[in-house]
Amino acid sequence: MVSFFKKNDKDKIEEKDIKENNIDITKGNIPSHIAIIMDGNGRWAKERNLPRYMGHKAGVETIREIVKECSKLGVKYLTLYAFSTENWKRPKDEVSALMKLLVQYLRKEVKELYENNVIVNTIGDIERLPDLCVKELQSAYDKTKDNTGLTLNLALNYGGRDEIITAVKNIYKDIKEGKLKEEEINNDTMSNYLYTKGIEDPDLIIRPSGEQRLSNFLLWQCAYSEFWYSHIKWPDFRKEHLHKAIYDYQNRDRRFGAVK
Ligand code: IPE
Ligand code: IPE
Ligand code: MG
Repeated sequence: MVSFFKKNDKDKIEEKDIKENNIDITKGNIPSHIAIIMDGNGRWAKERNLPRYMGHKAGVETIREIVKECSKLGVKYLTLYAFSTENWKRPKDEVSALMKLLVQYLRKEVKELYENNVIVNTIGDIERLPDLCVKELQSAYDKTKDNTGLTLNLALNYGGRDEIITAVKNIYKDIKEGKLKEEEINNDTMSNYLYTKGIEDPDLIIRPSGEQRLSNFLLWQCAYSEFWYSHIKWPDFRKEHLHKAIYDYQNRDRRFGAVK
């Protein structure tokens, strides 16, 4: 575990707030589907004069803690945005470091994930990832697919627009082949053509690192998601931050366009 913390003032205020609030999430509903945009690894490393890679490495530790905690809390789906369709624009070295970390993570963690009843699933166009990643992801899925606990969705080479375009193409193809009628297209049909088929929409989307944007994440699915952001960078994100996000979620009023 990386232990040399260097926090800026915003992070310190937030941590203090979280510690002093004595958060109790046991009384409210635990969100069924939590989605996280794991952001801030690069800036975390930069603050410590470390290469960006070290930030990603530290971020993997956070993944471990948050997956465990979500599993413990009874969350049904945890979707982690790990690599976007736009992240290919990064330097080659960084992309290959990320791919290596993915393989290492899977090799190291799948046994424990299996024992914790977690299903390891992916969303995104994973065929474009290096062969080794595809192989490890497939093997992780095969080993865990019969579990009944938390589904961990790793969003890899994922883009919301790419997902919608793929869905539209497949709908068009199925109409042409007579498998689908135009009048059958509705919200549910559309959802069934997405990578997240069969998975309920996220209740809560969390973005650490201070950015307040979706960056092409779950564009269709986020129609009524609650958004929660924090200045904490992903490597510093702890289960207490997750609890605070859940606590705030429990105190929101979700109206879905209706009047109460
Ligand atoms: C998120 O951290 C990880 C990935 C996108 C893979 P970043 O690498 O985006 O970190 P910042 O935003 O540069 O700090
Ligand atoms: C979003 O973060 C993608 C992931 C966390 C995988 P980015 O760091 O790529 O997003 P921008 O560039 O800040 O919008
Ligand atoms: Mg970023």
